[in-house]
Amino acid sequence: MRIEKANELGLCFGVKRAIGIVEKVAREQGGIETLGALAHNQQVIEKLAAIGVRVVKDINDIQGDTVAISSHGVSPHVEEVIRAKHIKIINTTCPSVRRAQLAAQRLAKASFFVVVYGDAKHIEVKGVLGWADGKGIATLDENLLKKLDQVPRRLGILSQTTQIPEHFTEFVKKLVDSTLTKNAELYIIDTICHSTRKRQTAAIKLAEKADLMLVIGSRTSANTNRLAELCAVVTKTYLVETTEEIKPSWLKGKQHIGITAGASTDEQTINEVVACLEALAKGL
Ligand code: F3S
Repeated sequence: MRIEKANELGLCFGVKRAIGIVEKVAREQGGIETLGALAHNQQVIEKLAAIGVRVVKDINDIQGDTVAISSHGVSPHVEEVIRAKHIKIINTTCPSVRRAQLAAQRLAKASFFVVVYGDAKHIEVKGVLGWADGKGIATLDENLLKKLDQVPRRLGILSQTTQIPEHFTEFVKKLVDSTLTKNAELYIIDTICHSTRKRQTAAIKLAEKADLMLVIGSRTSANTNRLAELCAVVTKTYLVETTEEIKPSWLKGKQHIGITAGASTDEQTINEVVACLEALAKGL
């Protein structure tokens, strides 16, 4: 049995950068709190906890005088509330997310109604929308716009950084079809990040050759879910967080197993899954 890793997988530059910044501050200060999880990955959180990085869910739970904002970023309002409490911010917002935030701000200031193609409940999307100062919505359903009392004439369209590019293109095409009337103005900015594109392309390429794909990552990680979604179209796919979820029966009759991992999955977890598959393959 052949076990092959995708050419691009695991921790992206944005999450690595955020971890690096927080680790440095935690070691210097003997610990630090992060507002929300730094990465949607339990293994990464546990490693950081060992050097004093504590996750707080709410601004009111912050106990120290410094807090780190995750790579997903937050709205300017959240930043203001933290500063009003005289708490210093260590901002690890990923530069790709920052680009989307600034695009939302620029569009809203230019009187465009901002439409973010993404999961409205996701922390990154909420933050990006916050930069549009309430002048926008987030949705994965182009029909939502039709439900507004009046479809805005000027629309600025962005994407959550971890969405599937082809799906964003489809969304935009449908919006063009349904909104390009009465002097409409559409401004489209592609804010899907390069790491997401590279991981998705590499995962599909491998899935086309493999008869089973394992996607390693958290079920709460947006980009991990997108990888699993894409691979499942091509071949049998399972999403696993750790080796404990792998069932030996999955491997029966399989010759070529492909591995990919979300942008917040660390190398150690990937190596553990590979070692587990190798051990199981020997026993078949
Ligand atoms: Fe940034 Fe893309 Fe990673 S937005 S945090 S590089 S998945």
